[in-house]
Amino acid sequence: MSAESRENATLSNADVESAYTRWAPIYDLVFTACMRPGRKAGAAAVNRIGGRILDVGVGTGLELPMFSPDLRVTGIDLCEPMLDAARRRVASHKLHNVEALRVMDAMQLTFGDASFDGVIAPYVLTVVPDPHRTLDEMARVVKPGGEIVLVNHIGAESGPMAMLEAWLGRRAASLGWRPEFSWDIIGSWLETRPDITLLERRTLAPLSLFTIVRLKRAVNA
Ligand SMILES: C[S@@+](CC[C@H](N)C(=O)[O-])C[C@H]1O[C@@H](n2cnc3c(N)ncnc32)[C@H](O)[C@@H]1O
Repeated sequence: MSAESRENATLSNADVESAYTRWAPIYDLVFTACMRPGRKAGAAAVNRIGGRILDVGVGTGLELPMFSPDLRVTGIDLCEPMLDAARRRVASHKLHNVEALRVMDAMQLTFGDASFDGVIAPYVLTVVPDPHRTLDEMARVVKPGGEIVLVNHIGAESGPMAMLEAWLGRRAASLGWRPEFSWDIIGSWLETRPDITLLERRTLAPLSLFTIVRLKRAVNA
């Protein structure tokens, strides 16, 4: 594969692991402040759910200190160096509510059906190679009546921002995320899932760059 077509390729798990192994040492420096409002909004949503929570793509664990001490949190991520940073955060903040941090593929969760009261995935759906498989897995492991909370950048549909995102999108494999992620990816999945209801879709500060999406699995699913 040429360097050019490699850059244009869609993300694979190997791309993600290699990109986030590179990001891990500087991730907090670059991504703490700009993405904090989304993490706070996501954490507030799962704190209202309570119980056992799965954090998909927990990364370095920047959202972990925002979770209520009453929750029982499991975090998973594909990238070991990111998880190492999360483990250090759990130790330094004495986060007794974090029960486990495990290497796992979001597209192939090893948890049983209906294992969690809530699932949160901050800034992850734009990163995983197959968002629909990831959503299916999150819907499988959440209990009937439980919620899935997503925080993402939803790409612009037109204008200069859409052009910039399309240009950056050609570099998705080396960046480690898809800047041009469209709402239709979530919308088209929802159309296939009568058991999942859209509870909320709300843009967040700063500059409405990020969106929180709350989904509910039907009680009688
Ligand atoms: C942008 S970071 C977000 C990390 C954290 N949630 C935050 O708010 O800072 C995306 C994370 O998703 C992880 N990830 C990507 N694809 C994954 C997959 N298939 N399974 C598990 N984790 C994955 C990456 O390794 C990375 O740590």
